[in-house]
Amino acid sequence: MSRRKQIYEGKAKILYEGPEPGTLVQYFKDDATAFNAQKKAVLDGKGVLNNRISEFVMLRLEEIGIPTHFIKRLNMREQLIKKVEIIPLEVICRNVAAGTMAKRLGLDEGTKLPRSVVEFCLKRDDLGDPLVAEEHIHTFGWATHAEVDEMITMTLRINDYLRGMFGGIGINLIDFKIEFGRLDVTMENGSVAHQVILADEISPDSCRLWDRETDRKMDKDRFRRDMGGVTEAYTEVATRLGILKEAN
Ligand code: C5P
Repeated sequence: MSRRKQIYEGKAKILYEGPEPGTLVQYFKDDATAFNAQKKAVLDGKGVLNNRISEFVMLRLEEIGIPTHFIKRLNMREQLIKKVEIIPLEVICRNVAAGTMAKRLGLDEGTKLPRSVVEFCLKRDDLGDPLVAEEHIHTFGWATHAEVDEMITMTLRINDYLRGMFGGIGINLIDFKIEFGRLDVTMENGSVAHQVILADEISPDSCRLWDRETDRKMDKDRFRRDMGGVTEAYTEVATRLGILKEAN
């Protein structure tokens, strides 16, 4: 790992140059950050769990026709991914009011939303990833109209699928954040087009997951809110998904 060229280091992951052109290696760290990195900790084993959970989710989504950057898991902490140009937006989908939506709109956390809501935030750490309107996205050229439509359509399909998947193991999907990237695809006539594909990760770091019976939090809010038992909760998510039985 250390011999590879580092391309980027984020709060919870590192990207290294991949073995083939057009590939990267995504390394999952144990670092946890919250509130725009004002709160930091190292949670033993979190990276291993998120690598496995994100692999599992990406593979299921590929099966239902969502294009993703995931190629294969390499080891406990690394996966091979397609190199994409990240669209500078965080796409958040919410089924139940929680977190910043509950705070911003004065809703009780846990209020079921009448319909799923898709929000966009600009990926800008120095501004605290502000919520933006589609008008802003088009005005400033962060994504095209077609890309925004594709992101919304894919996000709602991902939400439908993941609600069912987590529902089947007694977990309510409250909300989640995903990111998309542009992949160059050569068409039959030789022209190059951009395909929008799911990138980054889907894990208890990027979702709110509540136990269906008790509303117990099984996600990063346990870290954000000093509730303890963070890796235990992530381990339980992985176990309920049936992915911890496999040997590494
Ligand atoms: O904090 P907020 O309520 O806006 O978060 C909505 C969802 O997006 C949560 O599941 C949270 O874990 C996720 N999120 C994230 N990364 C961010 C902001 C939010 O994964 N930078």
